[in-house]
Amino acid sequence: MKQAPKHPVRLERQGTIALIVIENPPVNALGVAVRRGIAAALNAAVAHDKTDAIVIAANGRTFPAGADIREFDMAAQEPSLGQLFDLIENAPKPVVAAIHGTALGGGLELAMAAHYRIASSDARMGLPEIHLGLLPGAGGTQRLPRLIGAELAFDMMMSGNQLSAGICAEIGLIDSVTSGDLRSEAVAYARTLTEVRPTALNRTHLMDGGDYMATVAARRAQVKADLGAGALAPLKIVDCVEAALLLPMDAGLQLERAAFEDCLASRESAGLRHAFFAERRAAKFPEAADAKPAKVERIAIVGGGTMGSGIAIAGLQSGFAVTLVEQGESGVNAALEQIGAFYERSIAKGRLSEAQGAAALTHLQLTNKLDTLGEADLIIEAIGEDFDLKASILAEIGAVAKPDAVIATNTSYLDLSALAAATGRPANTIGLHFFAPAQVNKLVEVGVHDAASAQAVMTGVGFAKAMGKTPVRARVHKGFGSGYIGNAILEAYRLAADIMLEDGATPAQIDGAMRSFGFPLGPYQIADMSGLDIAYARRQSKPRDPDVRYVEIADKMVEQGWLGQKTRRGYYIYAEGQRTGVPNGDVLKMISEHRAHKGITARKFSDRDIRDRILLAIVNAGARLLGEGVAARPSDIDTVMVHGFGYPRSRGGPMMDADATTPSIIASRLSVLAPEEPSLWAAAPVLTMLAQERQKFADLN
Ligand code: 3HC
Repeated sequence: MKQAPKHPVRLERQGTIALIVIENPPVNALGVAVRRGIAAALNAAVAHDKTDAIVIAANGRTFPAGADIREFDMAAQEPSLGQLFDLIENAPKPVVAAIHGTALGGGLELAMAAHYRIASSDARMGLPEIHLGLLPGAGGTQRLPRLIGAELAFDMMMSGNQLSAGICAEIGLIDSVTSGDLRSEAVAYARTLTEVRPTALNRTHLMDGGDYMATVAARRAQVKADLGAGALAPLKIVDCVEAALLLPMDAGLQLERAAFEDCLASRESAGLRHAFFAERRAAKFPEAADAKPAKVERIAIVGGGTMGSGIAIAGLQSGFAVTLVEQGESGVNAALEQIGAFYERSIAKGRLSEAQGAAALTHLQLTNKLDTLGEADLIIEAIGEDFDLKASILAEIGAVAKPDAVIATNTSYLDLSALAAATGRPANTIGLHFFAPAQVNKLVEVGVHDAASAQAVMTGVGFAKAMGKTPVRARVHKGFGSGYIGNAILEAYRLAADIMLEDGATPAQIDGAMRSFGFPLGPYQIADMSGLDIAYARRQSKPRDPDVRYVEIADKMVEQGWLGQKTRRGYYIYAEGQRTGVPNGDVLKMISEHRAHKGITARKFSDRDIRDRILLAIVNAGARLLGEGVAARPSDIDTVMVHGFGYPRSRGGPMMDADATTPSIIASRLSVLAPEEPSLWAAAPVLTMLAQERQKFADLN
């Protein structure tokens, strides 16, 4: 953990204006030292008889981006944000917040406690607490509706979205926008102020109680309908906004504080906060800690199928110049069609304007000539999973790429070291495994191998981040399962599910049990969506491990031509144009014949059995990956499962869930199942070690 600077707040003077400057990198979070510093500086500024007004500003990349989330699990230290903001609001001299960067959460609440707000034109403001299972707990729920009304306040707090300075000025959240030097403009603005504006008493938007309460009632109904009783933070936000009208300010603030504490104590918030830090930790690569990413402006993608086109779209959308290389004219046309279809859909749905779509496409170069790759800073090979083909294309890429270009393969399970060697420049070659649809899915597994240079690895990480993705470090392994983290865990997940399918459960029962746990789709719905032939080809390409139980059901389906949604027949049957199906009776019949053929008597699994077995399989596979060095930390596995496979984010991830159960209980449950299928259930050494030492996965993060 980074140490906060000892004196993160300074008091300066510019004539009669006192300037309170916060400097607590990286994001000026409002930790205890900052709160104390602001309080002391404010008191000193107020006490100085030459002070006419006070400006609060921040150095570095942003006005405070919120409370210090790391302090939420520690004992509270005074002054609290609430106490500090009371002090600001009740200051007898005008206080101006000078906002740049992203004023988020407690940072925006600080600004709202000030009497006036001025912002740089490129500043953004938001209350993202909801993404952490929280609500604005330092006056935001009381001050925001007073400033902008209930409807807009709900929009901001329920979505967590950031608004531009321009919009904030339009809706009355800030007083002034400047494209000049913020600090001097703020001081000049402060000089014009002659009075303290009584923010707490601003009841303009509360005057029409009728409309206000109608808005509150409509939101409450909407939250209940959309999210149900489990959505603690949204329901509490509604209560607090209601209180802003019904209660005096102090009582409203007290109610908000209690609501915040309730949310903070919830499992949901613990899970979401874990996910927040896990994502950021995942982008730190121990083997490349000090390396700086190289500059990437032009990327090239070799292979314009669904994956390659998706990566191209993601690149264009993030402002990269993109060269896409496909074979022959028909390949080029097919890629162009896919990319064009994305832009047409986005324009039709209003997500992009026609001008934005057209502008993005001007940065796309589609070609069938590999020698165009010489200009690219980063080249991604995204052709099918055939080792020989990939190796020969990578060799061609290696021959034409510029000397310092980074080459990446999108393989999900082939031997990365061998593919890197094929380029002739293994130090510059890494894995970048995107998840479909690549223009949407945020997960990118960054494959490392012994010969890769730290700079090439961090260039991949930096590129993924620049595309708004969540990079996670992974090694390809060839032991249990296959691929990096995601596919190896998926393989264990599927085997646990397939064993239950073969032994008596139905696809719909297993899918339903996993959906009720919180996954958006069950494993057989995912299989139908992805196409059964893809996994089939992968199974066929690998030698079968005699020590792993093999369930032939999916193979038999492929042999019947039941490939899932693409043939409208898989585990489910799909009506024309539909993505939700009804159970396929022919598959159920086939499974029952298959059981008879193998001499298996069907047995019953409860939904709980199904969930327990699958979650145990996921955790045990995760523990194996840690032991084999495929995953660097348990929280990386959580990030992969949340982003790649829809593991409920509010649970943090499977390894966090395993800690809640405790590794020793997990190990003893596994020991009961192990005789049934040791390949899946024999406890991984890391798990056994944690159980013996009474430690948790979190201790390995
Ligand atoms: N508290 C503590 N650390 C924080 C933090 C916070 N509020 N926000 C960011 N950080 C840390 C990150 O963990 C990261 O640390 P690391 O370098 O050690 O990994 C570092 O700051 C930089 O963060 P990012 O990598 O995310 O940097 P970006 O530039 O990509 O994004 C950001 C910056 C938009 C500010 C993003 O960090 C963010 O969204 N932060 C969270 C904002 C938030 O949720 N604020 C509300 C907090 S809750 C609150 O205020 C409660 C109040 O109502 C009482």
